[in-house]
Formats: sequence, C-alpha cells, structure tokens
Amino acid sequence: MVTRVAVVGPAGWGTQHIRVFTERPDTEVVAVVGRDAGRTAAVAARVGANPYTDIGAMVDGERPDLVTVALPNEAHFEPTRRLLRTGIPLLVEKPLVFSLEEADVLLDEARASGSFFAINFNHRYAEPVKRAKSAVDAGSLGDLVFTTWRFGGEANHGESPHKNLIETQCHAFDMLEHLLGPIVSVMAQMTDKTYGAYSTVALALEFASGAVGTLLGSYDSSYAYPETHRLEVNGTAGRLTVVDTVKSFTLSRAGDESTERWEAGYFNDEARSFERTFDRYVDDMLAALRRGIEPPVHASAGRRALFLAMKTIESFDSGTRKDTRS
Ligand SMILES: NC(=O)c1ccc[n+]([C@@H]2O[C@H](COP(=O)([O-])OP(=O)(O)OC[C@H]3O[C@@H](n4cnc5c(N)ncnc54)[C@H](O)[C@@H]3O)[C@@H](O)[C@H]2O)c1
Repeated sequence: MVTRVAVVGPAGWGTQHIRVFTERPDTEVVAVVGRDAGRTAAVAARVGANPYTDIGAMVDGERPDLVTVALPNEAHFEPTRRLLRTGIPLLVEKPLVFSLEEADVLLDEARASGSFFAINFNHRYAEPVKRAKSAVDAGSLGDLVFTTWRFGGEANHGESPHKNLIETQCHAFDMLEHLLGPIVSVMAQMTDKTYGAYSTVALALEFASGAVGTLLGSYDSSYAYPETHRLEVNGTAGRLTVVDTVKSFTLSRAGDESTERWEAGYFNDEARSFERTFDRYVDDMLAALRRGIEPPVHASAGRRALFLAMKTIESFDSGTRKDTRS
C-alpha cells in the first residue's frame, strides 16, 4: 500500500521531507504547501505533486494519508493546530512550539481528534546513538554515573531570546533522557554577550537514577569545527562517546586500555549521512502508522523537551535549581 503524503514547508529542511517520501517505494508525495505560488509550483512539478499555498485547500483537495510539517521554527503552532483538527496523521518538526500553553493546546487537539501525532527527533536514529542505547540497555556501562553533552554551531537568529535552548538543544534534552532516563532537576547559566539572545547555555543536570550531567549548548560555535557535537556517558563499568551524532561511537571498559570503535565503513554512506537519520525514523514511524499504534516518538516528547527548556529558563532567571519532574 502506498501512503499518500503532503509536505507543508517545501524549502530548507522541507526538501529532506520531499526527498524521503519521494525516494521510498511505499510513499508518494501528492502535495506540497508553500507560501510562494511560483516556487511551490516549481517544487511540486519536480516530484509530480500538486502545489498549494493554503493548508485547508490542500486537505480538501487531497485528503492525504499523512501530512508532514517543516515550517520555520517559530511558526509551528497555528498550522499544526489546523492540521490536527482534520484528524489526518501528522509528522511535525522539532521544536514542537515555543510555549507550554501552545504545546498543551496541540496535545489536547490530538487527543480530541485521535490523531497520530509524531515529532521528528531523528537524532535518536543515528547509528552511534542506536549503539549507545544498546550499550546502556545491555548494562555494558554498569551503573550510570555522569554524562556530558556539548552541541552547537552558527546562530539561528529568531524572535525568542532562547532559540538555541528551545530549537536546537531540544535534541539534547530528548537524547539525554532517551539514554539516561528522566532529568529531575536543572540549574542554568547563560550568556547573551554576542548578539543579545541567550546564545550559549551551560546546565547542571540531575537524573532520577542519581547520575549527574552537564549540557553545553551554543550558537557561538561553528558546525565547521571538528567534534562540534560530543556526548559522553560514564558508568561504573565503562564509558561511551558519540561524536557529531553520526560520525563515531566508542565503548571503553573500565581498566581495559583497548576501545571498541564504530565509524561508517568505506561504502556505508547511509550510516555516515546525517540526513538519513530521518529516513530511519520514517521507517519506524510508517510501520507504527500502518499498524495503528502510537508513533515511535510522539509529539509529547517535544512537549517534554520544551518543559525542560522552560525550567532551565526559570532556573537562570531565579538563580536557583528547578525541579523538572512533570
Ligand atoms: N530534525 C532535524 O534534524 C532538522 C534539521 C533541520 C531543520 N529542522 C526543522 O525543520 C523546520 C524547518 O527548518 P528550516 O531550516 O527549513 O526553516 P526555514 O525557516 O528555512 O523554512 C521553512 C520553509 O517553510 C516555508 N514557509 C514559511 N511560512 C510558510 C507558510 N505559512 N506556509 C507554507 N510554507 C511556509 C518557507 O518558505 C521555507 O520553505 C524547523 O522546525 C527546524 O527546526 C529539523
């Protein structure tokens, strides 16, 4: 069965949405929705889809099996709410939205309409991250004790002074809880010294397991730097590292001077590619959609990342540690 997909927001990262769903044999892009009629028509023509500049007209004209949304970071709320009201299954990009009130409205709408509501936390599907998760779950690290995360590059300017924290570091919150379990408190430092927004944040984290962590997220760095992303998880029996999300995974065991290392092999372009983490996520997401079960990463994970960001902001504003149990 071919799943008929509509893509809302067809440029920028939306080009990946179009690529993923046109390359697959089991999906077809039937519609694209953009702002500019001429540009949208050109994109639609390339993939044999119908162009629209209005979401309502697209829904009425196509009744797709799935809509995916890749709109600018701070413009997710209204289009997402509108789509949820149709009951058509939905895959949205991170971040869910920029306010908890809006997040709750969306999750309530999804409950009311019974909509399949997925969010694209594709970093979980990177090969090094999958290996990290397997190592943690297999107990290879022993009892987890601490983690450290650093991630960032050039600034993505926007309206919110906390865009880095909400739009980019949502991946950090999502992945750290994916690997180490719930974060129960945060304390934050932030700087706005470069252009007025809080472009670099440094957090101290406490996990329910008793482990602790640090999170350094920055818009004052460069994606050109080697190891612009680095994750380390340490336990009583071993340590793992993930570099640049897709680049490498290492596993070391306490007292053993040899290290197991994974990097994509010569021909393994699939695992080497950041973009292909999205394809992997879509494999699981479509399987869930077809089985009629909840998505592998429900939009509520986007609300959770936003909640942690909001508690981080409260911590910085008040100069105190904030409880993050929800
Ligand atoms: N999951 C990932 O790895 C990943 C990677 C990159 C970006 N993203 C996310 O993808 C989303 C899009 O990012 P981007 O960098 O492409 O953003 P962007 O601001 O560059 O562009 C989004 C697209 O939406 C279009 N658009 C704007 N308003 C519209 C409207 N009202 N109707 C239809 N189309 C409209 C724009 O013309 C543009 O084509 C963001 O949420 C971003 O965080 C996710």
